Amino acid sequence: MDEPEHVRTTRDAYDVVATDYAEMLHGALDAQPLDRALLHTFAELVRDAGGGPVLDVGCGPGRITAYLHGLAVDVSGADLSLAMVREAQRRVPALHFEVAALTALDVPDASLAGLVAWYSIIHTPPAELPAAFAEFARVVRPHGQLLLAFQATTTTTAEAVQLERPYGHDVELTAYRLPTEQVVADLSAAGMTVTARLVREPTGSERTPQAYLLAERD
Ligand SMILES: C[S@@+](CC[C@H](N)C(=O)[O-])C[C@H]1O[C@@H](n2cnc3c(N)ncnc32)[C@H](O)[C@@H]1O
Repeated sequence: MDEPEHVRTTRDAYDVVATDYAEMLHGALDAQPLDRALLHTFAELVRDAGGGPVLDVGCGPGRITAYLHGLAVDVSGADLSLAMVREAQRRVPALHFEVAALTALDVPDASLAGLVAWYSIIHTPPAELPAAFAEFARVVRPHGQLLLAFQATTTTTAEAVQLERPYGHDVELTAYRLPTEQVVADLSAAGMTVTARLVREPTGSERTPQAYLLAERD
């Protein structure tokens, strides 16, 4: 099946960097109390609504999946990169991980209590995000919860950045810094209402503000 060039290059890149990415990000949440607070809030909202399956989309090595599991969330993971899925399965053997693209999740309509996309929309060209959000809206049940994290730009237009030797490898990988308002508008157009937004300043090696959106399926 034909697939967009950016999907192929993103998969190829993450297949190469998977192990080093997993090592470099291991334990990173320990130093990110705001990130943890949002994951706790998301977990509480899902549990208070009666629980149910949650999908961590673009789960990478499963660090966020594992964290949500520790918060009593019934969570599994999906990722474009087979190497990442294998890394996640090895690191978090108790949970289920599978290969899937953001735009083609192997999940029935309205079957999820929640969906997390933690820095996984960042490699999708902004013009194609509405297709991903339509897929998110398809799989999350009415009043289900969504949590997104991404690098934000302070301008009104998205900014494409060619990452230089990402995670120590000579691979081609483009990331997009996104205007928070545009992402809010795209989510809304797809049938998800943003209930909370947080933009925090960069810390450590981060170069841009980091945006987090909590949304509810209409
Ligand atoms: C920056 S990593 C984040 C991984 C994980 N969420 C975390 O926070 O550690 C981006 C991940 O999103 C995945 N990804 C990127 N584009 C994707 C797409 N179109 N469909 C599914 N996964 C995608 C990549 O393979 C990679 O594992």
